[in-house]
Amino acid sequence: MQIDGHAYRTIWVDPEDRWSVRIIDQTRLPWALEILRLTTLDDAAHAIRAMLVRGAPLIGATAAYGLCLALRADPADAALERAATTLAATRPTAVNLRWALDRMLARLRPAAPGARLAGAYDEAARIADEDAAQNAAIGRHGQTLIETAAARPGRPAGPVNVLTHCNAGWLATVDWGTAIAPIYAAHNAGIPVHVWVDETRPRNQGASLTAYELGKHGVPHTVIADNAGGHLMQHGQVDLAIVGADRVTRTGDVANKIGTYLKALAAKDTGVPFWVAVPSSTIDWTLADGVAEIPIEERAAAEVATLTGRTEAGAVMTIRVIPDGSAAANPAFDVTPARLVTGLITERGRCPATAEGLLGLFPERR
Ligand code: MRU
Repeated sequence: MQIDGHAYRTIWVDPEDRWSVRIIDQTRLPWALEILRLTTLDDAAHAIRAMLVRGAPLIGATAAYGLCLALRADPADAALERAATTLAATRPTAVNLRWALDRMLARLRPAAPGARLAGAYDEAARIADEDAAQNAAIGRHGQTLIETAAARPGRPAGPVNVLTHCNAGWLATVDWGTAIAPIYAAHNAGIPVHVWVDETRPRNQGASLTAYELGKHGVPHTVIADNAGGHLMQHGQVDLAIVGADRVTRTGDVANKIGTYLKALAAKDTGVPFWVAVPSSTIDWTLADGVAEIPIEERAAAEVATLTGRTEAGAVMTIRVIPDGSAAANPAFDVTPARLVTGLITERGRCPATAEGLLGLFPERR
């Protein structure tokens, strides 16, 4: 996608040296656009763990390139396995991480150590390219929902209002995004669309990242406090909600950024369609009960206890917002049961959030 007239992906191989890996440091957005260079396995593991890159599909692509960097240092069997274990331990909830590593290992394990490096870069590039293509397809399949909402009889004039949570835009993927891809597709097709952007405490991925990328693309949007969504839905100001996911069970339960569940409850109560956009790399075919089985990342209490922002003088500062001595807890994801999800938008089309619905689109998983 474009930033100030330049086309970017979120991760790419440096075109000059053709081996180091470039990323956008997302901890600096929206204040600064800083491109970093990853050269080692540790760089890649740190980038994922510290959320310089984040979002389920991008975490997977970064892990794939992390294995490439590891193999440059040592292509032997033991080093390959160690690197995969290191990367797999960086973040627990997004299944794309495990999916990307498994795919890389399936390609690399049978190869002789001396022949692994070229195969690794080739496979990582395929993972990245496929993610971008799948998300573009999600955009096309989701655009229809926005068109349908725009044409709903009796609807007041004005743009289609879409509510989203966290950042599931292009910054969370290699390109296009998942939940935001249908919004870009509709906007590009000339359908008036406006986005309610949940701020998404504690790390504010909505306020800092979704608002940033929508703004750069010229999509009208309004940042709202996390607790405002239910009120807006009650008053007819949300046509539909679209969110992304970090892991979807084979039965359609959805793990996504903390707070997603509450939005789904409000949407159910008010009759607002609640859609979840996911590439197939986010579906965990081994799990059936999301609440019981999906591991939920617990992050540092400091993320809740503090806020980072820019002062009027232009300095980026972090301030404490809770009293000294108060404890803080920080579960980073929650699970929305499939019964609250109107449907899933995948690269193969839309389906109900059920086992049968998913198998209808992915019959090879039967
Ligand atoms: O903690 P994050 O920022 O990695 O969480 C990201 C989300 O929860 C996204 O909504 C999800 O990964 C979908 S991204 C296409």
